[in-house]
Amino acid sequence: MSLLSGLPGIVEAAKKEYEETKSGDFRTTSKKGNSLSNLIVQGENLSFMKYLAEKRGLAGGIKLIYVDPPFFSGTNYQARIKTQSPLTGEVPAFKIVAYEDKWAQGMDEYLKMLASRLFMMKDLLSEDGCLWMHLDWHVVHYVKIIMDEIFGEKNFINEIIWHYKSGGTSKNHFSRKHDTLLFYGKGTKTPLDIPKEKSYNRERKPYRFKGVKEYRDELGWYTMVNMKDVWHIDMVGRTSNERTGYATQKPEALLERIIGSCTKEGEICADFFCGAGTAAAAAQKLGRRWIACDGGDMAVSFAEKRLAKAGASFEIMKDALKERKTEGKIDIKIEIINTSFEGKKLIRTEITNYRPDIKNLPLEKEGRKIIKELSEKDSLSLIDYFSMDFDYDGEIHRSDVYYFKDRENECICCEKILKKWGKISIKVTDIFGNVFMKTLDLSAGAGIS
Ligand SMILES: C[S@@+](CC[C@H](N)C(=O)[O-])C[C@H]1O[C@@H](n2cnc3c(N)ncnc32)[C@H](O)[C@@H]1O
Repeated sequence: MSLLSGLPGIVEAAKKEYEETKSGDFRTTSKKGNSLSNLIVQGENLSFMKYLAEKRGLAGGIKLIYVDPPFFSGTNYQARIKTQSPLTGEVPAFKIVAYEDKWAQGMDEYLKMLASRLFMMKDLLSEDGCLWMHLDWHVVHYVKIIMDEIFGEKNFINEIIWHYKSGGTSKNHFSRKHDTLLFYGKGTKTPLDIPKEKSYNRERKPYRFKGVKEYRDELGWYTMVNMKDVWHIDMVGRTSNERTGYATQKPEALLERIIGSCTKEGEICADFFCGAGTAAAAAQKLGRRWIACDGGDMAVSFAEKRLAKAGASFEIMKDALKERKTEGKIDIKIEIINTSFEGKKLIRTEITNYRPDIKNLPLEKEGRKIIKELSEKDSLSLIDYFSMDFDYDGEIHRSDVYYFKDRENECICCEKILKKWGKISIKVTDIFGNVFMKTLDLSAGAGIS
């Protein structure tokens, strides 16, 4: 059967999957600050969306959903990891598989995956909410037909062409330098604040039309018009501060334009294929609330680090039934030191050793060799960041403070004067996104000198 004639069956099967999907058992594992609504979630997005609708009462509660799913490219994508080791000298950057975009049963399987999630996203959107689907030439034509079916043709708003310059070329076709974003409203009334842009006059000369305001810059005369549907925005550059190393990371400027034009401060924006958390980072900058979900540990750890650095408050959630186990081990030394400051005591936490679970890391040959050598000579270079909860409630780690390893060994040790002698918890994340938790009860004074 041709794919075209198979489309109704694909949508039917996707609808069944959506109806039969059960909510995942998502639990908060960690919190930063007090916010209840910003979420970073590690897990399968279909069962997470069901969880949001059924257990968090968010059906009809989300104003904007942006998704940038795998594009059906038939490739595996990697995260580029760079670490430093003063003990081994320059460490070459290496790559680790971040996510796969390969579909054993072809396009049918891919389209069914996307369509079942589209049904779920529609449930979560508010009546005046909207959905942005980010794709490229591989499947956008089929997905538009499916979205017309699920969202209704009349609710289609725009097909945005995002044009960029970077990437490769080929002798066999014109250089592919754009992605396509399909923009739909849940209903027919989607409030939109369209930004203005410059439109240069022909030959860049003044027109002097009555009542039309004209401006001039170094390129010539122009007027300000409502933004058009072709957007020229650069990809995240190699040396940009924004760059996380996560493959297929999108620029914040693109997401700021989308979120800024369709939502107001305080409204909820969600991204269920969040990767390194670009949509959440843009939402955070613009004062929106946000939800970011991804199935990969690596993606979630990149997103957590990025949002923590941006000063955001958030909860981290995981599907309790799908915890990834690692056999890696972390050694942490805790010292309590008397100070001369009002007789107060200082707690010193130091990560002293790390034995990673190398055999279970999705590394290629070269990366495995580098990691093996680092783990023997300087295993602490494999720690990325850690956070401390100095008032641990025995259940949820609430990060009072994060330590990032941006400079040599910065994150290995922390010192803090304690106000209270209760439980503390330490959450350590390695450069592969593996998380280790340690807790300690200081009230009993156990094991502490
Ligand atoms: C193209 S990337 C997103 C990149 C992101 N926009 C950014 O700027 O970093 C797609 C992401 O979707 C995630 N993903 C794919 N299928 C998923 C699923 N069923 N549930 C949750 N995440 C999924 C992958 O792990 C990957 O990180």
